[in-house]
Amino acid sequence: MNNARPRVLVIHGPNLNLLGRRETNVYGTMTLEDIDALLLKKAIALGLDLEIVQTNHEGEMVEAIQKTLSGYAGIVINPAAFSHYSIAVRDAVAAVPVPVIEVHLSNIYSREEFRHHSVVAPVTKGQISGLGPLGYLFALEAVAAIGGGGKQ
Ligand code: DQA
Repeated sequence: MNNARPRVLVIHGPNLNLLGRRETNVYGTMTLEDIDALLLKKAIALGLDLEIVQTNHEGEMVEAIQKTLSGYAGIVINPAAFSHYSIAVRDAVAAVPVPVIEVHLSNIYSREEFRHHSVVAPVTKGQISGLGPLGYLFALEAVAAIGGGGKQ
């Protein structure tokens, strides 16, 4: 009998390891560790098994996404700057069978023009932008609700 909790992968992209010290007027004062602690607490409440990675490297992000080809219920991802230009990240998201929710702490549509477009967004289930750390928590709830039901 398989009674394992659904496994969800959270991926934080480049420079998010600097949260709390980086452009605090834009990204706030919470550190990535603070956000991860909130996510882990939320995951317990939702009955999810959470795995969290942060990477500053495009290839590592692609490999992390590919891990969800089997055994995962979904992905919560903040691709950070890769959102705006990485076709490799987009193709990896398109390739995996799980729902993917894209999160941005800041509202990318109210910032510089080059941030207004995400090449990843069209192949995700949905995007949350501008809600700060809450966005990650809502995304986790969405994955729990959709949970393992595939991309649709
Ligand atoms: C970000 C927005 C991106 O434009 C930026 O490159 C980031 C963070 C956000 O969470 O608001 O690094 O993804």
